Amino acid sequence: MGGALSQLCRLIRNYLYESSKLLQSTIMCNSLFKAAQACLGAQSIEEKVALTQASAELWRHGELCLGDDEPPLPIGDPGRPATPVLVAPRDLHARKLSSLEGQAALIHAICHIEFNAINLAWDAVYRFRDLPTEFYHDWVKVADEEAYHFTLLREHLRSFDYDYGNFDAHNGLWEMAQQTAHDPLIRMALVPRVLEARGLDVTPGIMAKLRGIGDLKAVSILEIIFRDEIGHVEIGSRWFEYLCQQRKLEPTSTFRELIEEYMKGSLKGPFHKEARLKAGFSEEELAYLEGMG
Ligand SMILES: [Fe+2]
Ligand SMILES: [Fe+2]
Repeated sequence: MGGALSQLCRLIRNYLYESSKLLQSTIMCNSLFKAAQACLGAQSIEEKVALTQASAELWRHGELCLGDDEPPLPIGDPGRPATPVLVAPRDLHARKLSSLEGQAALIHAICHIEFNAINLAWDAVYRFRDLPTEFYHDWVKVADEEAYHFTLLREHLRSFDYDYGNFDAHNGLWEMAQQTAHDPLIRMALVPRVLEARGLDVTPGIMAKLRGIGDLKAVSILEIIFRDEIGHVEIGSRWFEYLCQQRKLEPTSTFRELIEEYMKGSLKGPFHKEARLKAGFSEEELAYLEGMG
C-alpha cells in the first residue's frame, strides 16, 4: 500500500510538473497556500480533481509548508468548467424521478454540490492564515474527500450517459463563501454548520427515493457521503468553538446571532438530530433549531 501510494504521489507530481507553469511554481515553493490557490483556480474538472488529490497527498507527506510571501487575494469566482450554466435557483427545472433524465438531474445536483465543496474547502485553507496546523490538516482532508465524492457521483452519471455540466445549476454555495470570506468564525458557522449540515438532514430522504427507483449504486455512494459529511460538519463545529474561545464568545448565542444576521433567523427543517449531535451540535443548539424548523 505504502509503495503504491508513493508511486501515485510520484506520478501525480510528474503530472503537475508538466501540466502548467502555475503548478510548477506551486511545487517549487512548496506552499500549501499556493497549492490551495492552484486547486481553486483550476478550471477543468480533471485538473481540479487531480490537483486536489496531489496536493492532499503532498500535505500528508509533509511536503508542503504553511508559508506564503503574499496575503490571500480577495475572493472572486473559483475556476470551473464552462458548464454547468449557473442560474438562479428559481430557474432550475424540477424533473420527475421516474424518468432517467430526472434521476440524472438529481445525481447532477448533488455532484454540483460536491464540486463546489472542493472549492469551499480549498478556500478555507487558502484564505484563513495563522490558524493552528490542525486547521489546515482538517480542511485539506475535506477537500480531498469532496473530490472523492464528486468523482464517485460523476462516474455514476457517466454510467448512464450523462455528465457533470449537462444540467443547469445554482451558485448558492459559493455566494455563501463570498459572504463569509472576511472571517473564519463566520465561515465555520455558516458553511459547514449550515450548508453542509443541511446535507445531513436531507440525504437519508434522497437515499430512500433513489432506493425506491432501484438506483442502489447511488444509494451506496450517498452512504459514503453521509458518513464523511458528519466529519466535515464536526470539523466546522470544532473550529467554530475554537474561534469563539479565542475571542471569548459564547458559542451557542454566537451561532444564533449569526443565523439571525445571515439567514434572516430561519433555517429549514426537519433536522437530523442524531447526525447533527455526532457532528458537534449541542442539545441547546438543536432545541433552538427545532424551535424555528
Ligand atoms: Fe461531500
Ligand atoms: Fe462536505
